[in-house]
Amino acid sequence: MSRIEQALSGWVAASPESPTPAALVEAMRYAVLDGGKRLRPLLVLAACEAVNGSAQTALRPACAVELIHAYSLVHDDMPCMDNDVLRRGKPTVHVQFGEAQALLTGDALQALAFELLTPEDGSLDAATQAALCRLLARSAGFEGMAGGQAIDLASVGLPLNSEQLHAMHRLKTGALLQASVMMGATCGTASPAALSALRDYGAAIGLAFQVVDDVLDVTADAATLGKTAGKDAAQDKPTFVSLMGLSASQDYARQLLAQALSSLQASGLENTQALQALADMLVNRQH
Ligand code: IPE
Ligand code: IPE
Ligand code: MG
Ligand code: MG
Ligand code: MG
Repeated sequence: MSRIEQALSGWVAASPESPTPAALVEAMRYAVLDGGKRLRPLLVLAACEAVNGSAQTALRPACAVELIHAYSLVHDDMPCMDNDVLRRGKPTVHVQFGEAQALLTGDALQALAFELLTPEDGSLDAATQAALCRLLARSAGFEGMAGGQAIDLASVGLPLNSEQLHAMHRLKTGALLQASVMMGATCGTASPAALSALRDYGAAIGLAFQVVDDVLDVTADAATLGKTAGKDAAQDKPTFVSLMGLSASQDYARQLLAQALSSLQASGLENTQALQALADMLVNRQH
């Protein structure tokens, strides 16, 4: 965790001679640093460990996925989307810096993520760079997070059925979490069967994560969450809680945790303790 914080702080910084307005860099640092559970970068590092890769190699993809996540939060909070004023215990980026800066902050963080994946110093070979870029691009784009956000916005006030809700959650949140696991797995060596089991693990925790996010929106308060509570119902968003109720949603999250753990077992990989712990943490979190 501390290596991730340190690396992020080093990378989200302008060079002294940069002509970029200081306010943009300040907004980027505000969006990324001081807050966040860092689940996605931790998943990258844990998956890398499971396939016996080096943590040094995984640090760039770990930070890249967190930058995409931070960008998605900045845009998600904007008035044209969820119109939220509180994030990670602080005023949202557009409240603090204005809407235009928030838009640019997201744009710049997204670009920086891909810059991190393509270093010129030989620390990542060309094939690994390409594989990491492909995984991150797919999971962030129209068949991943951005596509899921589009479904989310188009679904306000509509009663989605279970299949539609699963599809929305799989894209808007699941894809990036699953990609975190697969990016970590790209940093080492694993058999096709182990990779497929890790993909199943990623899918299960990805879905579980958003089910728990929906639950916490109902059960937790803003001080604990660091973001506004109760806003899904207030904005008439379809969620697992609105579809199946609170206690069935909690049961479902536990079922998905069990699925995730059994996928790890099926992987035949030995060093999956960190992946197990993260799955458990993600389902049993309080914020
Ligand atoms: C919140 O993600 C947004 C969703 C994708 C549901 P996290 O709960 O991981 O947010 P941080 O990074 O800890 O702030
Ligand atoms: C957002 O989902 C998922 C993203 C892709 C950012 P939510 O809108 O439920 O996330 P929160 O609850 O605002 O963090
Ligand atoms: Mg949203
Ligand atoms: Mg939101
Ligand atoms: Mg939410």
